Amino acid sequence: MLIRPETDRDINLIRALTDVAFAPMPYGDGTEGASIDQMRIDGDLTLSLVAEDGGEIIGHVAFSPAQISEATGDWYGMGPISVRADRQKQGIGTRLAHEGLAQLKTRGAAGCVLIGRPAVYGPMGFVSDSNLTHGKLDRVLVQYITLNDVPPKGEVTFAPALQQDDP
Ligand SMILES: CC(C)(COP(=O)(O)OP(=O)(O)OC[C@H]1O[C@@H](n2cnc3c(N)ncnc32)[C@H](O)[C@@H]1OP(=O)(O)O)[C@@H](O)C(=O)NCCC(=O)NCCS
Repeated sequence: MLIRPETDRDINLIRALTDVAFAPMPYGDGTEGASIDQMRIDGDLTLSLVAEDGGEIIGHVAFSPAQISEATGDWYGMGPISVRADRQKQGIGTRLAHEGLAQLKTRGAAGCVLIGRPAVYGPMGFVSDSNLTHGKLDRVLVQYITLNDVPPKGEVTFAPALQQDDP
């Protein structure tokens, strides 16, 4: 399996993969695939990585700039992230996340934040604490990973294209 940056030929496949992966999820609202397109248009798609196996796209992750009200340095939001249903729980999501985080670290990023379940993102290295908020969302779902050993504090604001994805 290869993790590589998206190319123009992947764009439709990424949207379809994302929409199909989120469709059965209680928090899926049908906007996830389109949000990646919008981030690309907005210039907010900092990193878009695909997992390719046997010539097929089986996973994708997007990273975009995020703001944290009391944090310093460059923070990024991770998501949407999707792995094709028949290839989930095989470590592909973790490989996508870790490759993206390694590339962000190379760019000097302070860290990465996301909204998600600890059962999925805890094993990838993300944590949550009471210092990070996103509106009225349960703080357990507001997770981060620091790339410079400084934990963030404050209210998280994601790229405009992602605001409508909030659960
Ligand atoms: C979330 C998703 C990208 C994870 O990708 P993946 O390749 O299955 O993830 P990994 O195999 O690397 O697993 C990472 C951890 O998450 C856990 N995990 C994965 N799917 C899970 C699920 N549905 N429920 C609970 N835990 C889950 C794995 O068990 C693993 O933890 P472990 O190391 O303790 O076993 C994938 O399940 C997916 O596409 N889901 C549908 C779309 C979605 O919900 N995206 C995220 C929205 S927040």
